[in-house]
Amino acid sequence: MKRIVILVSGRGSNMQAIVSRCRGEGWAAEVVAVLADRAAAAGLAWAAEQGIATAALEFKAFANRDAFDTALAAAIDAHAPDLVVLAGFMRILGADFVRRYEGRMLNIHPSLLPVFPGLHTHRRALEAGCKVAGATVHFVTPELDHGPIVMQSVVPVRAGDDEAALAARVLATEHVIYPLSVRWFVEGELQLEDGIVRHKRGASQLLA
Ligand code: GAR
Repeated sequence: MKRIVILVSGRGSNMQAIVSRCRGEGWAAEVVAVLADRAAAAGLAWAAEQGIATAALEFKAFANRDAFDTALAAAIDAHAPDLVVLAGFMRILGADFVRRYEGRMLNIHPSLLPVFPGLHTHRRALEAGCKVAGATVHFVTPELDHGPIVMQSVVPVRAGDDEAALAARVLATEHVIYPLSVRWFVEGELQLEDGIVRHKRGASQLLA
């Protein structure tokens, strides 16, 4: 059984999609803990209802980011995970923290990386007049919202879209590509070479 720890900051819809798919499809894996940087993160309550261990580390309770990162690493390592999944975790993590989980930490970002790292991706896509938008699952590296790409989804940007409409269209695809990417990781289907991720048996890494 592969052990998965998921980090959230908010509603945790991607976390819910992963837990549901993991259980429903009978992966040889278990989400053993959901951790958050805010006790109020709605995702924590959902996970607790599912019988999953939860914990919150309030960022404000720590003297600085290094202290927070150290405590977070200890909370994660207590569950001995094979994979750490960032699912809407909105804290920037220090380089030492990221290196500790190199090759076994995934993130999802709501843009077609490497464009629009950071915040307000949908607003920026609309302002740029993009005709497509999407989401990216990637291995985490010290550079924010960069790292080897596991899977991407592409959706059209439609005339009349506002941020909320575009975000909803992208989010629906996140709920497909993130569980699938995590499943591939736990089943050993991902090969990472020279910064490029390939599915060993050639499955499509694009949802379009
Ligand atoms: C998702 O859209 C995710 O891609 C984004 O936050 C949202 C979390 O939603 N992540 C980032 O922006 C990370 N840079 P969720 O809590 O419902 O999964």
